Amino acid sequence: MAEMIVALDVQSRLEAVDRVNAIGDAVGFYKIGLELFTAEGPDVVWAVKDLGKKVFLDLKLHDIPRTVERAVRSAGRLGVDLLTIHSVGGNAMIRAAADAAAEFGESAPKVLAVTVLTSLDEMDLRDVGILGRTPADQVRAAAFLSVASGADGLVCSPREVGMLSKSLRKGTLFVTPGVRPAGAALGDQKRVATPADAVRDGATHLVVGRPILAAPDPAAAAQAILAEISAN
Ligand code: C5P
Repeated sequence: MAEMIVALDVQSRLEAVDRVNAIGDAVGFYKIGLELFTAEGPDVVWAVKDLGKKVFLDLKLHDIPRTVERAVRSAGRLGVDLLTIHSVGGNAMIRAAADAAAEFGESAPKVLAVTVLTSLDEMDLRDVGILGRTPADQVRAAAFLSVASGADGLVCSPREVGMLSKSLRKGTLFVTPGVRPAGAALGDQKRVATPADAVRDGATHLVVGRPILAAPDPAAAAQAILAEISAN
């Protein structure tokens, strides 16, 4: 069954711990992104791990292979369970990340590749020199490269997950943000899917932020989404 990850899009360790406690036992997996990690560093990872939760460290690493390899090793030492790299780093960088993660054996973090940022359209791709390809073409190419180079899975939008889950090998992880229960506020998300639709399309993990964090009762909001996931 698909697992839900709550995006801890807050600014401080205290707020993060407060949110995790408010959500309680229903959720066992939290995403720490650039804002929170840059503010609090490894302390916030340890704080969430100390509460018995799994951590998805979403720093979207992109650098020369040696640097990414060493950063992944550092993340492995922190005990994170999932981390992200950018597929545009290329075959050698993705391979270096996968190999560094594998050094942790049973507790190896899973490496997810980001294909094309959902904020980019065809004009943006052209501006950075990717010519004659739509974002969908580029997503497909980057996804195949990433998995062939050793990534465990992909971050993919609700619009992409169906196509990718059908064409990539079994066991690949598909981690999907942009999830909104029917009737929930979209915020700045434009291409959304309900939890049920995302799971039906092949998502193995759903990343949900504001529909839970901004709810008057975050634990109840989390339970409602989990019920929708398990009904599938
Ligand atoms: O609040 P919301 O549910 O929109 O949060 C979604 C989370 O997933 C945020 O942390 C956001 O940065 C992340 N994300 C996304 N779309 C992507 C990649 C990551 O919404 N394409």
